[in-house]
Amino acid sequence: MNEIKVGIIGLGFMGSTHFQIYQTIPRVKVVALADVDPMKREGDISSVVSNISGGDNSKPLDLSGIKVFDNAFDMIRSGVLDMVDICVPTIFHGELVLAGLEAGLHVFCEKPLCRNMKELQLIRQALARSKSFLNAGMCVRAWPEYDCAKKILDSGIMGKVRIAQFRRFSPDVNGNSWNNWYLKDEFSGGAAYDMHLHDTDFICHLFGKPESVSSTGVTVNSDSAYDQIFTRYSYGDARFITAEGGWCASPNVPFEMSFQIICEKGTLKLDHSGFHIYWCDGRVETPDTGDPSLPTGWHRELKYFTDCLKKGDSPDRYQTPESIFSALCVVTAEIESAKKQEKIKVRYV
Ligand SMILES: NC(=O)c1ccc[n+]([C@@H]2O[C@H](COP(=O)([O-])OP(=O)(O)OC[C@H]3O[C@@H](n4cnc5c(N)ncnc54)[C@H](O)[C@@H]3O)[C@@H](O)[C@H]2O)c1
Repeated sequence: MNEIKVGIIGLGFMGSTHFQIYQTIPRVKVVALADVDPMKREGDISSVVSNISGGDNSKPLDLSGIKVFDNAFDMIRSGVLDMVDICVPTIFHGELVLAGLEAGLHVFCEKPLCRNMKELQLIRQALARSKSFLNAGMCVRAWPEYDCAKKILDSGIMGKVRIAQFRRFSPDVNGNSWNNWYLKDEFSGGAAYDMHLHDTDFICHLFGKPESVSSTGVTVNSDSAYDQIFTRYSYGDARFITAEGGWCASPNVPFEMSFQIICEKGTLKLDHSGFHIYWCDGRVETPDTGDPSLPTGWHRELKYFTDCLKKGDSPDRYQTPESIFSALCVVTAEIESAKKQEKIKVRYV
């Protein structure tokens, strides 16, 4: 494919971020956009709040030459796209992914891929019938420090992993989204399904699929879902692998994503002071995380996905549809574990 024609659904935080990233990728063109909000259809993103990047949203996006739709299904069926990029609240993902695949489009959907296991099965079946590629925004797998940590651990130079902990904390999301959808369980699945899913998925990426999970959670601002969750992932061995995520810190607290992975020969650590290897012999090393022109996992995953489309290659470097499905099974078990206050064996569907 010489040029990839992209249609974005939803011009909120993620949609506007993707829109700007596509402008930097050669032979990728945003040709259409769908949003239910008339302001967004004019390119006005002044109402968008980002918990992590803190970008300037006061300047409208230039939508000249872009076909604008108020109905996402009309855009999907318009015949002008090669690929659809779904950046709307999670509750709408399932039906839009299915519509995209049925229209013969390649589909990039923000995470979580869908809101429940029933939708997951429908997507799996639709994908089996389709010739299209599907990917989801499990961007942490492509995030420079995380991707680099995976390469370092896989190389074996650090020896065996003994303890690994991952943290993801956002300032309060209350009031940050379209119709405050993040705080509605039916729409988002809460912090566990939405944000903490990134670390669950990265743990699967590093260590494989856990056998069982033990979680505890708390509801603070959401209607019923967990706003903070802590999980231990069990692999039937002595490793102590945990992750915690939440989104109700004061609005002025900076976003935090961090990890500490303690191995036989040293500790890999990402925190506010940067990304380092602290070797047991006293050396401290700062690993090279790759191309600085692709500074985030969002840049890297979209560049990679569209490069694969150009070449006709299956996009499986960071994640596969099966790994996306598995992470959803694990986080579903985590929520069940927190609710029942017991260890839950993960059912991989
Ligand atoms: N990968 C990441 O790091 C990351 C970070 C934040 C959000 N996300 C995901 O991105 C998705 C969007 O989140 P957000 O923070 O951008 O939300 P948002 O509330 O900022 O934006 C949502 C946009 O979708 C539009 N919209 C709502 N319903 C629609 C519909 N039916 N059809 C068309 N447009 C519709 C809204 O008008 C709004 O412009 C979510 O799935 C979220 O989990 C991913």
